[in-house]
Amino acid sequence: MFELANKRILLGVSGGIAAYKSADLVRRLRDAGAEVRVAMTAGATQFITPLTLQALSGQPVRTAVFDAEAEAAMGHIELARWADAVLIAPASANTLARLAQGLADDLLSTLCLATRAPLLVAPAMNQVMWEHPATQTNLALLRERGVHICGPGVGGQACGEFGPGRMLEPMELVAAVATLFSSGALAGLQVLITAGPTREPIDPVRFISNRSSGKMGYAVAVAAVEAGARVTLVSGPVALSPPEHVECIHVDTAAEMHAVVMARVQSSDLFIAAAAVADYRPQTVAEHKLKKQAAALQLGLQRTPDILAEVAALHPAPFTVGFAAETERLAEHARGKRMAKSLDMVAANLVNLPGQGFEADENALTLYWEGGECGLPRMSKTQLARELIAQIALRYQAKQQHQSGAADRHAEDTA
Ligand code: PMT
Repeated sequence: MFELANKRILLGVSGGIAAYKSADLVRRLRDAGAEVRVAMTAGATQFITPLTLQALSGQPVRTAVFDAEAEAAMGHIELARWADAVLIAPASANTLARLAQGLADDLLSTLCLATRAPLLVAPAMNQVMWEHPATQTNLALLRERGVHICGPGVGGQACGEFGPGRMLEPMELVAAVATLFSSGALAGLQVLITAGPTREPIDPVRFISNRSSGKMGYAVAVAAVEAGARVTLVSGPVALSPPEHVECIHVDTAAEMHAVVMARVQSSDLFIAAAAVADYRPQTVAEHKLKKQAAALQLGLQRTPDILAEVAALHPAPFTVGFAAETERLAEHARGKRMAKSLDMVAANLVNLPGQGFEADENALTLYWEGGECGLPRMSKTQLARELIAQIALRYQAKQQHQSGAADRHAEDTA
């Protein structure tokens, strides 16, 4: 279940006998590759100890908003932002009621209000409590707000009764969380992505490069895998681990990146150029380390191959998405790049604002395509990449439909 690889899951545990299953749930989520942090209500700690969940998650368990030590390590707002998804299992009738009311009077309810991540709840309670109109009204309200309601199952209950109200089994919940991350929008497609900087050597110890960390391109690769694509990532030198389920090819220079991309692009349906490729490289590379001599040193530079332009000019070309890193007149420059290189889409970012662009964990993009544009506001690169992939998938499908319509019309005309 690779959809959960490296996903950050915040597990909320509320008070109920089913809390004993939360221990297995933590283990199963981690087996699926997720990073898990746990927040417990006071009621939950009556059924299972924080220590158990701490041992299984490998992380301190949070139980209170005003825990100075825990807040110093990761504040509750930071924890709410950290999560890719929040799962409350078990979700008691009381917790559902408090979520429906938007209360923020304990850690778990506060986290749910403070997060933008999708929220799943796995109700667990006595069957009469489940069927009570108050509970059903709360659930309807939560469902209307986009909360995913997982279960409950029907069966024998700890109180000796029989009916709906059993928490779903841990593996069923793991599958429900995984579904969130698998859109299938690029199912069966081959996607080629570039990421990171390139290094253009001056001599054996020096090079020309830039500040790209690869975070944006790697996040795009992960989002494409989540969307069902087979992904090849051509990466410049970065300090990131290759994402799971991605074929990662490491290169140093623009020339190496160019060679790998051109060898792979024929079998690709989409090409996404997130790398910050050096536009120039030294004309000559000194065989030995250059010595300090004159007060000034002049380096002769020559253009590197424009990988993106060359891919877009192929016949047939894959659906081609370029990035544009700008410090001013974003729309004008990005539209200009799209037109000049005949790109299907440009994802433009301002790289001179604090906290976004190069190296940062967050970014914002404006997407331009023929006849349209769309702004994706500042958010984590992980989430932004998912939204970018969703937009790319839409435009890709629109282009495919347009091309097959044109082919049908041509066939009718010539019949
Ligand atoms: O890696 P991070 O630290 O996460 O930062 C992300 C980012 C800012 C690097 C990323 O969001 C981004 O903007 N990438 C493109 C950077 C860039 O080089 O932009 P550009 O406007 O100079 O180039 C335009 C496009 O041409 C890019 O898609 C680039 O990959 C491509 N190009 C450029 C030169 C070249 N020789 N070959 C190319 O393919």
